[in-house]
Amino acid sequence: MIALLATLSLPACSPQAVPDGRNLGGDPHLGMAIAQAKCAACHGGAGADAAPGVPSLNEQYPEYISKQLAAFAAPRGAPNHRESAVMAPIARALTDRDRGDVAAWYAVNWRKPLKSRNPANVALGEQLFLHGHPQDDLPACAACHRADANGIRPDFPNLASQDPAYIEYELKNWERLRGHRGKLMSIIAPRVKPEWAGPIAEYLAGRASRPVQ
Ligand code: HEC
Ligand code: HEC
Repeated sequence: MIALLATLSLPACSPQAVPDGRNLGGDPHLGMAIAQAKCAACHGGAGADAAPGVPSLNEQYPEYISKQLAAFAAPRGAPNHRESAVMAPIARALTDRDRGDVAAWYAVNWRKPLKSRNPANVALGEQLFLHGHPQDDLPACAACHRADANGIRPDFPNLASQDPAYIEYELKNWERLRGHRGKLMSIIAPRVKPEWAGPIAEYLAGRASRPVQ
């Protein structure tokens, strides 16, 4: 990561001036300062892992990170509100520009590969992720998050090597935390039986994440 930033070798400058062909939507240099001061204790970042149960933001699509920050900051009842007592005040304290910068910085960080803690569950998780469960009208997760679980920029987040406790918690609590009528995952998540959430999370933990393109 340090080497990557060094190769950008830029003076402090506006996001528009960052010559990164990936269109990160913000300035990773400015984002690093914000992340180290306000996020890294929980989400990790430069050389540190996220705390257990806290999602990794590394190699996540910057548009997705910015969108979630806006959702945490949105008032309860707003069509995009995402519930989190921890993240709401943190997200509200960031300007739109800060959100774009910090998202850009996490997007270019390397995500540490995880291993499934419970290999016995992985086969069921794989089956559900790749093929869904047609008897319960559950489509394949891979249809939107891709077979390699790395998602599709900008809308479908990267789930590979994501913290399994976090994934399991989100799937089991989707409706309460971030369920909005008409949204794709609000249709999918209620069809994931509670006993499937852990196996899917274990399977995802063992998938390799790749850098944001
Ligand atoms: C005190 C710990 C803590 C700090 C500090 C913190 N976060 Fe979080 N963050 C969390 C937790 C816990 C979640 C899981 C969401 C929830 O609360 O349900 C989360 C979720 C998120 C998500 C959603 C990720 C996803 O995959 O959907 C984003 C984006 C995020 N945080 C960004 C940030 C940024 C940017 C900062 C710094 C400005 C920050 N967080 C600081 C604990 C923290
Ligand atoms: C029709 C498309 C679609 C399908 C099928 C789908 N997802 Fe999603 N998923 C999405 C979208 C879009 C988001 C982003 C939601 C947002 O922006 O808040 C998402 C977000 C998620 C997240 C949140 C990631 C994070 O970092 O917080 C998880 C977990 C997830 N999906 C798991 C699954 C699983 C497991 C399945 C299969 C059972 C599945 N998804 C099937 C579209 C889909």
